[in-house]
Amino acid sequence: MNKITSMKKIAFLIIMVAAACSQIVAQDAKMNAFVTDLMNKMTIDEKIGQLNLVTPGGAVTGAVVSKDVDTKIRAGQVGGLFGITGPSQVRKAQEISVNNSRLHIPLLFGLDVIHGHRTIFPIPLGLSCSWDTALIARSARIAATEASADGLDWAFSPMVDIARDPRWGRIAEGAGEDAFLGSQVAMAMIRGYQGGSDLTRNDVVMACVKHFALYGAADAGRDYNPVDMSRIKMMQYYLPPYLAAIRAGAGSVMSSFNEIDGIPATGNRWLLTDLLRQEWGFTGMVVSDYTSVSEMIAHGVGDLQAVSAQALNAGLDMDMVSEGFLTTLKKSLQEGRVKEETINQACRRILEAKYKLGLFDNPYRRMDEARASRELLSAGHRKASRETAARTMVLLKNDNQLLPLKKSGTIAVVGPLADSRRNMLGTWSVSGDPSKSVTVLEGIKQAAGGATVLYAKGANLSDDQEFAKHVNVFGTEIDIDSRTPEAMLNEATAEAAKADVVVAVLGEAADMTGESSSMSNIGLQESQENLLKALRKTGKPIVIVLFNGRPMTLVWENDVAGAILDSWFGGTEAGNAIADVLFGDYNPSGKLTTSFPRNVGQIPIYYNHKNTGRPLEGDQFQKFRSDYLDVSNEPLYPFGYGLSYTKFTYGKPKLSTTTMSPTDKLQVRVTVTNSGNFDGEETVQLYIRDVVASITQPVKELKGFQKVWLKKGESKEVSFTLTGDDLKFFDSYLHQVLEPGEFKVFVGGNSRDVEEAGFTLSR
Ligand code: NOJ
Repeated sequence: MNKITSMKKIAFLIIMVAAACSQIVAQDAKMNAFVTDLMNKMTIDEKIGQLNLVTPGGAVTGAVVSKDVDTKIRAGQVGGLFGITGPSQVRKAQEISVNNSRLHIPLLFGLDVIHGHRTIFPIPLGLSCSWDTALIARSARIAATEASADGLDWAFSPMVDIARDPRWGRIAEGAGEDAFLGSQVAMAMIRGYQGGSDLTRNDVVMACVKHFALYGAADAGRDYNPVDMSRIKMMQYYLPPYLAAIRAGAGSVMSSFNEIDGIPATGNRWLLTDLLRQEWGFTGMVVSDYTSVSEMIAHGVGDLQAVSAQALNAGLDMDMVSEGFLTTLKKSLQEGRVKEETINQACRRILEAKYKLGLFDNPYRRMDEARASRELLSAGHRKASRETAARTMVLLKNDNQLLPLKKSGTIAVVGPLADSRRNMLGTWSVSGDPSKSVTVLEGIKQAAGGATVLYAKGANLSDDQEFAKHVNVFGTEIDIDSRTPEAMLNEATAEAAKADVVVAVLGEAADMTGESSSMSNIGLQESQENLLKALRKTGKPIVIVLFNGRPMTLVWENDVAGAILDSWFGGTEAGNAIADVLFGDYNPSGKLTTSFPRNVGQIPIYYNHKNTGRPLEGDQFQKFRSDYLDVSNEPLYPFGYGLSYTKFTYGKPKLSTTTMSPTDKLQVRVTVTNSGNFDGEETVQLYIRDVVASITQPVKELKGFQKVWLKKGESKEVSFTLTGDDLKFFDSYLHQVLEPGEFKVFVGGNSRDVEEAGFTLSR
């Protein structure tokens, strides 16, 4: 390209950017004028009414539901509503507001669209194990297409809370333990839901990043528990995914239930204003979590009037279900505890969201019967869900190439999850229809070709009636059979005895993870261990297909089974996708995004831990070193781990330079070879370690990953670029700094088995 052409190109780009900027400024000015005009007509009660988010029931996701919803809508006391779905039902509620409230302001309709809407995709933890951001974005795009046809403007997703504690049930809803990967996933989800910057499109929904912040670090993994962590730890390891989502344009944020520094997040001004708005520049709306305003009373910071004023003053705009804003803010205004301008600001942000979503132009734009009947659970969406599910599964063990299964001989499919339609969708699938899901048995039968498929339930998910009651809040997921456990075991072993291979479909019920589903024992329930013991006695090779919303403790199972396929909860097409993987129609490529502990005592266990002053050298117990007397320091399966039916081998990483300046770009190149017998896909992972720094650094930190498809026998060079930004960390003053010195680079197919190189960062 000659100089003149390239200058012309630059000039053209500058003009385009300037034009786009001036268009945004003009749009913003138009929105401001509209909202100001509307607010000039509003009474203080109507403004406070906009801050009220109610749920009339329907998809119930909390302990209480709102009362007299229709009356409140008519009175202009409701800004948004969640829990209902379906064009005609949503339209009815919208009509009340548009036709009967004084200023005809449309309502905003939200819902927990978490991993799919009607077509359910794998649970988010599973999705993250694909390490495929385009695939993840597509799942959110499809969810948005369905939700927006079904009356909804607003998805309470993505949940980007980093979690290092698998006892916490909501680990299922996030992207695992790593902030770098979590940030990539968060951005992909925002892209998918919002589809770009134009929220007036009828097929997009506004995303809601949650739960701000640090909700995944609840003490002891018990839901809603306090969080206490240093600012450096927050900044470096927990907050980046929220920031990434905001930078990607997320329209709203949900505050979390937990406290931070002794102040509930919902009323935490440092969090909601200083950090979120002033430092990060977020301009969208902030909604509380379900009754998290009134829950501040139980936290011990005041009565309903006090906590509502505190939350508003902290920067919260919308109150979900508590009605603390609705019932107390006017009094607080009269008493000088809140300012009118603060109420105005919150109201403005909610009206702006409605404006951006195009609701003032057409309040019914996302209630589209025709599109809903065409698109909800369409064949195309189901196909995408099946492909996605197959790509999220993680092969944890596969001795002697037990998998893939042959499409001949006899296969005994056993276990409480083998034919359980109810459990396929996983937690947080409020609009999913379990009757539309495909079971593992159905999937296997469909794909088995000439093989004979036998079936026995073999065991209950749990024999404990009391425990089953706790889990079965949304339906019978733990279905305790009328037969005795012995009778079921006998049937299963009899079927297994006739087979060449046993596929044992075991694990958790769908709602053994999710909200308010923390567990202190994250192993298989005793009933299922008994089944496995009985199956083992048959001497038949055992493949475990695991359903789980969290990492489980599987040391014994890992010894007993020849192969273990972690399928998470795959969604509507779970059974078909599992069969695709079991028979090798899809070669598994998922990689773990959370470490699997050996026992609960190892928790929290995560790959990017720091060294101690007495690190263990090697893997044997050493006195006066940081280790345990009774268990190794290592997880059973590390972060980034996952097998394939083929084998990938790595060359040594080659660096473009061994001395890098802060403004340089460093290339890391590595040759990856498919040295096994199947074509397949590998996720190549790049980690670094800052060897000497003023703030201690983790032993490894993920800084890049790439998926590469290799035919058997094929080699490809994979190249990563590291810049100064990748080497920065937060210092004691919470500044991001870059310190010269020695760095290590690791490349591999998981965080444990890596090839190493090194470089020095110069001044
Ligand atoms: C409580 C949950 O914490 C949150 O994730 C969800 O969006 C709301 N309930 C609404 O259902």
